[in-house]
Amino acid sequence: MKIGFGSDHAAIELKSVLLEHLKSKGYECVDFGAYSPDQKVDYPIAGRKVAEAIRRGDIDKGVLVCGTGVGISLAANKVPGIRAGVCSDCFTAKMVKEHNHCQIIAMGQRVVGTELAKMIVDNFFEAEELGGRHAKRVDMITQIERDYGYADAPIK
Ligand code: RB5
Repeated sequence: MKIGFGSDHAAIELKSVLLEHLKSKGYECVDFGAYSPDQKVDYPIAGRKVAEAIRRGDIDKGVLVCGTGVGISLAANKVPGIRAGVCSDCFTAKMVKEHNHCQIIAMGQRVVGTELAKMIVDNFFEAEELGGRHAKRVDMITQIERDYGYADAPIK
């Protein structure tokens, strides 16, 4: 599995920790930046990059980090077909994969410590998407995008 990592300048440290953690577990990891705390990268830029890479099929899943995890997930969720869930606990991390079929897990460097963050991503990547009623509800989310004409929008 190929995982893309993105952060703004406020969360480079946690992004790097999680990238190294998942790389050590055998995942193929790609860093979409930010790369230096001295260079400001606004969270919508990183969130969009990783989300569009998933939509194009360049990567399978994503890990996004900003100060809270909220801004960067909001940006990623604007890309049609992408579901990013903000997590600060292991239970939610499992649920966003099983029930919500999120391709992206988002976290806040200012919210979770590094050891908890590693456990959170482990719960996310070890969980499987569940079908049945959960798949039906995820389809209902996609239908909202279709109703607004977004689901099949081309990627720039
Ligand atoms: C940057 O200061 C901060 O606003 C950003 O990292 C994030 O928390 C936004 O949601």
